[in-house]
Amino acid sequence: MHTEMWEHPATAANVATLRARGVHVIEPASGRLTGADTGPGRLPEPEEIARVALGLVAGEASSAVPGDLAGRRVVVSAGGTREPIDPVRFIGNRSSGRQGVALARAALARGAHVTLVAANLAADVLGPGAAPDEVVRVETTAQLREAVRAAASAADVVVMAAAVADFRPAGAPTTKIKKVAGHAPAPIELVENPDVLAELARDRLTPGQVVVGFAAETGDATGSVLEHGRAKARRKGADLLVVNAVGDGVGFGVGTNDVTLLDGAGEVVGQASGSKEVVADAVWDAVLKVVGPGA
Ligand code: CTP
Repeated sequence: MHTEMWEHPATAANVATLRARGVHVIEPASGRLTGADTGPGRLPEPEEIARVALGLVAGEASSAVPGDLAGRRVVVSAGGTREPIDPVRFIGNRSSGRQGVALARAALARGAHVTLVAANLAADVLGPGAAPDEVVRVETTAQLREAVRAAASAADVVVMAAAVADFRPAGAPTTKIKKVAGHAPAPIELVENPDVLAELARDRLTPGQVVVGFAAETGDATGSVLEHGRAKARRKGADLLVVNAVGDGVGFGVGTNDVTLLDGAGEVVGQASGSKEVVADAVWDAVLKVVGPGA
């Protein structure tokens, strides 16, 4: 195959039709092709095909009704924002972006038009696999906020799966901070970032827009994972909050997740555990209960 063949609008439209009918299409791998060109068009590795097929047989792919998000425009933020301390250093977090990418792919498989706002995804996360309709790469919270709001201005659903830095250095110098012999390091003053999710829930950039947030929680002396989740659901004002227990090998950077879905009042409306794909479909199932069927 040639890259132009795979990327030809006619091929793209036919593949989209198949996906909307519920056919599971594995993206071609990228690399050297039969002609002089390189790019997407290679047969995926047999291991990849086997992995996807076994996942489908095991029912991992979904409880999803094919095409039940057809005609919907969705925005998913994924990854974690980075806030520069100086030109070479940043404050960041451990989010790989896997859950957000799984959400984007599940929505594509269910027929949605998907914009992925990708904040510093781990190297292998986008890899071979269905490509979102649009991918906007961002680094900082300010960039993520702008990209999400721009895409959300024409979206039915916004899912904030990105781990957004709550604080950023007050004034990032444009030159590298040097250590000075005999002097203590200068403290880094932090200022608060806007809460992108709370703003979206407040502003509702399109009528009836559904806003979904994530909460990565550990239990502590002041409350359990669920108690913290409930309080956050009420505080953020989103329609759905996906509460994710993190720590002890669950959540960040690993393949599986264990989540509880809460509505805006903090009531439990769903539960899912297993692969991030299973969690992604459970989130879209819950979203569909809020928006209702039909485009
Ligand atoms: N979020 C956001 N903007 C921020 C911080 C968080 O949009 N400045 C979003 C995240 O994308 C996620 C949700 O809010 O969907 C919850 O993020 P989390 O970090 O768990 O919540 P915080 O409000 O930061 O609360 P805390 O750190 O106190 O647990």
